Amino acid sequence: MSRHLTNTEAENEAKAAQESLAARLVAIRRQLHANPELSHEEFQTTDWIRGWLEEAGVRILDYSLRTGVIAEIGGARPGPTIALRADIDALPVQEETGLPFASQKPGRMHACGHDYHTASLLGAAFLLKKRESELAGTVRLIFQPAEEKAHGALEVIESSALDGVDAIYGLHNKPDLPVGTIGIKEGPLMAAADGFVVKLEGTGSHAAVPEASVDPIVAGAHLIAALQTIVSRNVSPLQSAVISVTRIHSGTSWNVIPESALLDGTLRTFDEGVRALVKERFERITDGVAAAFGVKASVKWIQGPPAVNNDRVLSETAAIAARRVGLQVVVPAPSPAGEDFAFYQRAVPGAFFFMGTSGPHEWHHPAFDIDERALPLTAAFFARLAEDNLVQLGGKDALSSQDFASSQDESPNSIPNDTTV
Ligand code: NI
Repeated sequence: MSRHLTNTEAENEAKAAQESLAARLVAIRRQLHANPELSHEEFQTTDWIRGWLEEAGVRILDYSLRTGVIAEIGGARPGPTIALRADIDALPVQEETGLPFASQKPGRMHACGHDYHTASLLGAAFLLKKRESELAGTVRLIFQPAEEKAHGALEVIESSALDGVDAIYGLHNKPDLPVGTIGIKEGPLMAAADGFVVKLEGTGSHAAVPEASVDPIVAGAHLIAALQTIVSRNVSPLQSAVISVTRIHSGTSWNVIPESALLDGTLRTFDEGVRALVKERFERITDGVAAAFGVKASVKWIQGPPAVNNDRVLSETAAIAARRVGLQVVVPAPSPAGEDFAFYQRAVPGAFFFMGTSGPHEWHHPAFDIDERALPLTAAFFARLAEDNLVQLGGKDALSSQDFASSQDESPNSIPNDTTV
């Protein structure tokens, strides 16, 4: 006959289990942090994730991904499939934290905290595995490669790893939110991140004989100024957009008017209507300025991920799960950064959150860091959310009111390999 634990003994046992999970996740996060790998090069990271999952007895699924891991827990009881996603790649940044577990690779750093995302999702896997026989359906774990290039989510979707998923959740660390808080917001949370390249072609000449030229630099200067009027004059003050020209390339010498100029930059929007409006005005203004100055202009769009747009019902479910694990729920300000999680939300209902990590610096900073107390909290939240949502979705046919089939226009080939969002 088994001995019954007293309340105090049970509490002590639970506390010891929590502490041992926390210590394990810190060790995992530090191992990943010391060994960052860039997008599409996450081979060692992939091997380690597989190893940790296999050690815990978690099923690894076989999809045609070069890097990244898809795994699954549950399924003994029929029910829906909930996906939890973490990104696993690092950035081309030279680390300057001085931490004992700082990057061992020059010019490579987990400067966006994807090491913490990966470790947290592994923690959720360990927790869910212990409750596998009780899960009312299946939890699919997506360790996604190449988020920084905005390609990874599309590769996961192309590999069919999202097939059969009823809802998907993901999160990003948020340095300016304290540990113990989570930002949950329905609707737009992160921006559509598009790029542009404008080519202006004129006629070169001696710099002292400008009348013989059609100067692309003067045309470009006017164009840059005119493009700023899109946000100030065409976008409603109640909506938002960013247009930044970030690079100008033209000319070879101080005494030669060049033949052509290249301008590139980025466009950020939260609303598909604003995104379309800004692009339309951008092209009209470019054509108009080009006509005025007699240059030939072409605009090439680099289509990035659409805006992260959170499902209302799933956001509410997440807020309940967050409170159940002791997190304080706040409504976060949207971020104009891009996030390829948005591609999943085009395929299935999804919600994305900001988890407080009390960081000393913003994303991509060389001294970026997270407060590791966030690791077990995030693992517990992910696990709680998946388990609650399986129960909630079981027996429901329609998940949400959003029309996810409405805009499937994001082609996997539309983003170049050098895009970092
Ligand atoms: Ni990131």
